[in-house]
Amino acid sequence: MTRRALITGVTGQDGAYLARLLLSKGYAVVGGSRPAAARDIWRLREVGVDRDVKIADLELLDSSNILSVIERERPDEIYNLAAQSVVSSSFQTPVLTGDADALGAARILEAVRKFNPLIRFYQASTSEMFGDANESPQSETTPFCPRSPYGVAKLYAHWMTVNFRNVDGVFACSGILFNHESPLRGLEFVTRKITHGFAAIALGNRDCIELGNLDARRDWGFAADYVEGMWRMLQSEKPSDYVLATGRSHSVRDFCEIVAETVGLDLAWQGVGIDERAIDIKTGRTIVRINKDFYRPNELMPLVGNATKAQRELGWRPAMTFSELARTMAERDLKLAQR
Ligand code: GDD
Repeated sequence: MTRRALITGVTGQDGAYLARLLLSKGYAVVGGSRPAAARDIWRLREVGVDRDVKIADLELLDSSNILSVIERERPDEIYNLAAQSVVSSSFQTPVLTGDADALGAARILEAVRKFNPLIRFYQASTSEMFGDANESPQSETTPFCPRSPYGVAKLYAHWMTVNFRNVDGVFACSGILFNHESPLRGLEFVTRKITHGFAAIALGNRDCIELGNLDARRDWGFAADYVEGMWRMLQSEKPSDYVLATGRSHSVRDFCEIVAETVGLDLAWQGVGIDERAIDIKTGRTIVRINKDFYRPNELMPLVGNATKAQRELGWRPAMTFSELARTMAERDLKLAQR
């Protein structure tokens, strides 16, 4: 029998890669997407699955809509990837973020319990739940200490996932994913902002980009590697929670340097703090300025993950390194800008 998967947030980066993966494994894929949003399926098109995914109107704020989609589509597996996922925006919209990211997951779990508790459920949890963690690297046993409304909302969804598993016996897994990027990333996230911006600068279409904290460190992997981990979680014998990460942290500055080299900019840093900037040595032009509006409150402990449990129990390992990722994204954006 063909297995059926429902992916909420299918039009996002991870939704597109996961849809492609599941289709390649013979699944029928239904993609949930907000009815009100001007639906843009460019990512599904980009990975070649726009005609193979059935799109269903799905609104995380509406329990009855969620239940009716599940009743109609009868999925064997649900991957809850839909969210307000921009950390900085969550400071301006904490309640809305909570409604979608925290209660949205609870609404799906409740619908699963009511309609068919045998449905396997994946919750997209995040390293942002660690926030100001008391240890580094962070693993499944690190105490959570979120420092953004987004992290707090996701932590509620994480605990609901654990609770529906422990109390109601739902096969529910929480994947605690560290940053994962790709050419499909939105421009609001720092990696794609840099690759898109530097490609335009290299071609003379733009002068400069503005960034926040250049020394912020993250554990960046490749999104297509991470969706494989999501799928593996739902195929395992027992549901559990897993960190997916590369185990290495790099700074925003490191990322800028690799991208600049890839697109042919000769980058040098000058100045310090808020007055720091990057110039292109060949032209003497400023290509990066610092804007304190892009600084985050409360970025204390560097986020870097320990994925030993996923390696041991799921045989999962990220394939793409940080520099390959930066180069891949930069090359893709340079090609797009040349078109
Ligand atoms: N967005 C952005 N823009 N971030 C900047 C900038 C800038 O101009 N300058 C520096 N940064 C720093 C941020 O302060 C942060 O430390 C880091 O770059 C990464 O920021 P984002 O790319 O916006 O990602 P994020 O870490 O906040 O969150 C992403 O990863 C989480 C973990 O997987 C999002 O995808 C979350 O939804 C996800 O949960």
